[in-house]
Amino acid sequence: MSNNNIQIFDTTLRDGEQVPGCKLNTDQKVVIAEQLDALGVDVIEAGFPVSSPGDFKSVEAISKIVKNATVCGLTRSVENDIKVAAEALKYAVKPRIHTGIGTSESHIVHKFKTTQEDILERAYAAVKYAKSFVEDVEFYAEDAGRTDNEYLARVCEAAIKAGATVLNIPDTTGYCLPSEYGAKIKYLKENVKGIEKAILSCHCHNDLGLATANSIEGVINGARQIECTINGIGERAGNTALEEVVMVLKQHPYLKLDTNINTSMLYGMSQLVSDSMGIYTQPNKAIVGANAFAHSSGIHQDGVIKNRETYEIIDPKDVGVTESAIVLTARSGRAALAYRAKNVGYELTKLQLDDVYANFLSFADKKKEINDNDIHQIIETSNVYQ
Ligand code: KIV
Ligand code: ZN
Repeated sequence: MSNNNIQIFDTTLRDGEQVPGCKLNTDQKVVIAEQLDALGVDVIEAGFPVSSPGDFKSVEAISKIVKNATVCGLTRSVENDIKVAAEALKYAVKPRIHTGIGTSESHIVHKFKTTQEDILERAYAAVKYAKSFVEDVEFYAEDAGRTDNEYLARVCEAAIKAGATVLNIPDTTGYCLPSEYGAKIKYLKENVKGIEKAILSCHCHNDLGLATANSIEGVINGARQIECTINGIGERAGNTALEEVVMVLKQHPYLKLDTNINTSMLYGMSQLVSDSMGIYTQPNKAIVGANAFAHSSGIHQDGVIKNRETYEIIDPKDVGVTESAIVLTARSGRAALAYRAKNVGYELTKLQLDDVYANFLSFADKKKEINDNDIHQIIETSNVYQ
């Protein structure tokens, strides 16, 4: 792994699956895990083994079939959670235990009703105990986004001393601004003693629509892992979308940060997760939404037909979409109509096109979208065909 390689930690099957109504069974999870492995993710967070017998079974089944990626199980800083996670992960080629505790004032006072010193001790003990089962232990400081940086650095130091290999800095409530989250990562990089023994990881939620921007700021400032989900699925407004961060890094090569993801599988992966969970993806979703490569206004269509790059920054094939769509609506122009007519077998002269276009507009005003059958009808009922 080069110093500029960003590890992609996929938590679709853990944080993503926490969404109400999208529960998956073990077989569905195994299929998704196999595809995530083929996609090239570095870590698959397979579940929270102590949470239910079903989750335990899924983590165990995934541990048995994943060939390349690290398989990870979540725990609280509780001995039994850690023991159960280690048991569920025992067949994994590369097992990782992901343990942690809340570190913000709000979590310490309201959730744990304890002190900062007690949390430090629990963090240290949890990592130490996890290390007695596996070499690779990731520590999360829950609500790190709202945790005071100086205290957060002390927690990170304790986790490193206990043997943590990865320090997860979650913006659990999706609160941070990109500049704030980036500065937090930079602060930790510069102030945590022993930081060279671990990598920092971004885990951002999307409550303010900033999860992708925050994760990117995190890696620009020195983090080397991004935790994300397919389609950005997850608690409340969701997690960082895998397809978004991967494509941001790919489309901005001057950042010199890359991933191991086979981007041509992104669209298929999105469809698989959406179909399995029964959660449809919004049409305007970046990268994988139905309209991400669709053009419907006349000016844009004319540009794209002349040269795709006028209105597209990504080649759709790079993410597994066969081609850009020229959608015919009442806002479309002659260039789009001629292009679509040609695709269904009509080479129209300029004069014919003028005539067909007039017929098209009166048709299109009555319909949201004109399909191939409509095109046949429009052309064959135009004066040119009488
Ligand atoms: O958002 C969060 O803080 C989490 C942790 C449990 C890693 O999902
Ligand atoms: Zn989370």
